[in-house]
Amino acid sequence: MTTQTITAPISPHGEAGSPAVRVEHLVKTYPHPDGGTFNAVDDLSFTVATGEVLGILGPNGAGKSTTLEIIEGLQRPTSGSTSVFGLDSIADNAAMKTRIGVQLQASSYFAYLTLEELLTLFGSFYPKAIPAEELLDKVGLLGKRKALVGQLSGGQAQRFSIVAAMVNDPDIVFLDEPTTGLDPQARRNLWELVRSINDEDGKTVVLTTHYMEEAEELSHRVAIIDAGRIQALDTPVGLIGSLAGDHAVSFSAHRAIEDDGLEALPAVTGVRAKANGVHSYELSTSSPRDTVPALFQMASVRRFEVADLTVHAPTLEDVFLNVTGRSLRD
Ligand SMILES: Nc1ncnc2c1ncn2[C@@H]1O[C@H](COP(=O)(O)OP(=O)(O)OP(=O)(O)O)[C@@H](O)[C@H]1O
Ligand SMILES: [Mg+2]
Repeated sequence: MTTQTITAPISPHGEAGSPAVRVEHLVKTYPHPDGGTFNAVDDLSFTVATGEVLGILGPNGAGKSTTLEIIEGLQRPTSGSTSVFGLDSIADNAAMKTRIGVQLQASSYFAYLTLEELLTLFGSFYPKAIPAEELLDKVGLLGKRKALVGQLSGGQAQRFSIVAAMVNDPDIVFLDEPTTGLDPQARRNLWELVRSINDEDGKTVVLTTHYMEEAEELSHRVAIIDAGRIQALDTPVGLIGSLAGDHAVSFSAHRAIEDDGLEALPAVTGVRAKANGVHSYELSTSSPRDTVPALFQMASVRRFEVADLTVHAPTLEDVFLNVTGRSLRD
């Protein structure tokens, strides 16, 4: 895991005092399939700082796309408000559109236009646009300039959809599940692209994802959302530190260890003997650096051998489990 600090340059375009995104008491009510209504977005409030990468992590139906689409001005909220660089998503929509780049969860393009023609077309909608070749070069698709989107691989199509969101040289880019459906290698390539959009091009990024690892790798802060509500919002390190719970120390011994010993080790909060035929144990500990040396000391006094020792640091997965009571993919 990498530790990141938020280096938030003040955008030359940013209105003084306005965050890149402000969401206030946002509610979106939809008809419920079984009758009545429900809040797909349920009183969300958060801000995104200029220069930041905010990851919105949540399961299917959490309200991620709905939230983004309201911020982008593509959907109306039921109540509450959203703004980007101080520009209201509804009232200042036209001005806001020149500042934002939008990659939708499902994009479809005119099937008969080449990549180059599509980017040129999109660029024509804006007062200023980056040339198509420059954009294609950025994502390694210059060689495919004459190709149709339908002729691209999954990873290439995804890269194209990101760069298509950047024709107007936006100050902020919204990416809705940029890597869903990609293989691990293509996903890593995309992470590089998203990072460069943030730290080389200096753009603020808001992305949604189902993947813990992706949220943790890319985001300065992560908002965990479930059932239309923010369950937690902090840096990955902060979330893990405050919400994930204990480390797990696992090991096996060449003989059974007397019941009394392990629970008395420093920082240990729980002991589990694994019923897998050998003498395996899992200790929950708030501090492996206190527990592990004491374990070895105990082993030499009581004459047992410790093998296969692993320390599992808590992850965002554990945070998710703790704040929502279930795992992300269940
Ligand atoms: N136009 C609509 N009419 C009725 N219900 C809708 C509509 N759009 C979305 N919903 C419902 O609102 C909830 C939130 O949907 P949303 O697309 O925002 O979720 P999501 O977090 O983006 O999920 P996913 O990870 O699957 O993309 C879901 O229960 C969805 O079925
Ligand atoms: Mg979605």
